[in-house]
Amino acid sequence: MEQFFVRGGRPLHGTIRVSGSKNGCLGIMAAALLVKGKTTLHNVPDIRDIYTMGEMLRQVGAEVEFLGNGSVCIDATSFDRTQAPESLVRAMRASFYVFGPMLARLGRAEVSQPGGCEIGARPIDFHLKGMQALGAKVEVNGGIVRGEAARLHGAQLYLDFPSAGATTHLMITSCLAPGKSTIENAATEPEISDLAAFLNHLGARIDGAGSDTINIDGVEELKTEMEFSILPDRIEAGTFACAAAITRGDVVLDRVVPSHLLPVLVKLQDMGVEVLPLDTSEPEQLGRLRVRATARTQCVDILAMPHPGFPTDLQQPIASLLSVSQGTATVTDQVFENRFKYASELARMGANIRVEGRSAFVTGVERLCGASVLATDLRAGAALVVAALAANGETVISGIDHIDRGYSGLVEKLRGAGADIVRADLTEPRSFFRAV
Ligand code: UD1
Repeated sequence: MEQFFVRGGRPLHGTIRVSGSKNGCLGIMAAALLVKGKTTLHNVPDIRDIYTMGEMLRQVGAEVEFLGNGSVCIDATSFDRTQAPESLVRAMRASFYVFGPMLARLGRAEVSQPGGCEIGARPIDFHLKGMQALGAKVEVNGGIVRGEAARLHGAQLYLDFPSAGATTHLMITSCLAPGKSTIENAATEPEISDLAAFLNHLGARIDGAGSDTINIDGVEELKTEMEFSILPDRIEAGTFACAAAITRGDVVLDRVVPSHLLPVLVKLQDMGVEVLPLDTSEPEQLGRLRVRATARTQCVDILAMPHPGFPTDLQQPIASLLSVSQGTATVTDQVFENRFKYASELARMGANIRVEGRSAFVTGVERLCGASVLATDLRAGAALVVAALAANGETVISGIDHIDRGYSGLVEKLRGAGADIVRADLTEPRSFFRAV
């Protein structure tokens, strides 16, 4: 069982290159199933969720080749299977995105129902209601979702909550549903706009992605060849920004879209962190941000909301920063009901944090101290890494398979910026620090 071993207290310095977006890439890989031909994607992050999606696409008949250097080629010409393996849907909820392309291209779909997870119940009712509105007959029986549609058609779709997953899934599916569709109260995340750009390059007719009303004019066929580069991962970038701030470091985040990070950067600035866009006339310097902290940060309240609000995926890493900031703060999550599992682990490191309902109440302490802690989910793991980088002494983080789902080369990137972090498989963790 591998763990991260971190000795805290080293300020991060230098440049960290941000990878392609996990969430953006997952949606686009599923959308590649609509293409009766080859889709080549670049800037694909080297993370476990992407390989899980690759395996899912293979299992339903597509050819998937990871070309190295962040590129993957998906050939969905022979996509012909209408059943998806349950183990892959259980491993990653986004695997459920294959349901829509199955209906749109093959007229049938049988995919197991993704369960709840560590961060909340996470139902799929918006997805299913949307598929029904698009003309599919859908039933759920014994944990399996079955869908049938001789032919999909455009429809007016309304989401009770601007769900990123439902917007992604319904936008992909309605591309090949002839007639006009509208998704009202749609999610507005940059990954949704990127997916629409990808689909439009393929010949889809999508308008309004990035706003809360998306119009789709369904087409019969898409192009059969496509090359596309995935947008940078704003959540990974935000995590490194928190790591830079908590260690009072000075880090350049390379390959970011600063506007996608606005909700986080504004909060960091309110906390006293310097954020400088490195805007020069050199084109390659566009999309670089410098994040620098020279003193103890100040507490500010965080309200995680749908985009463009503060991202729920970053309320955990920023809570680690708050736990050593001056003052008190409330962190509230309006997106997921149970995203505070990291709080008890942070408390083991000396944080003064109390959770009540959908909020965590934090009173900043001077220093955290190293401890043995457990990552219960992806972003909880990111929070613990951020905390460990600034803690006194040694922290051992278990459950790092969660972190591997979403952070590409995390140890290498942090070590490159001066952090003392290693990944190792040791049965007697404490001896590791004595050994080096
Ligand atoms: C996606 C992201 C995840 C991010 C989240 C919110 C991917 C692969 N994952 O997750 O990293 O934290 O958006 O930004 O892109 N809901 C329903 N019914 C549904 C669908 C959602 O009630 O059919 C609820 C959820 O339980 C949750 C809220 O809507 O409370 C938002 O969920 P959603 O945006 O769908 O999250 P995911 O797409 O699962």
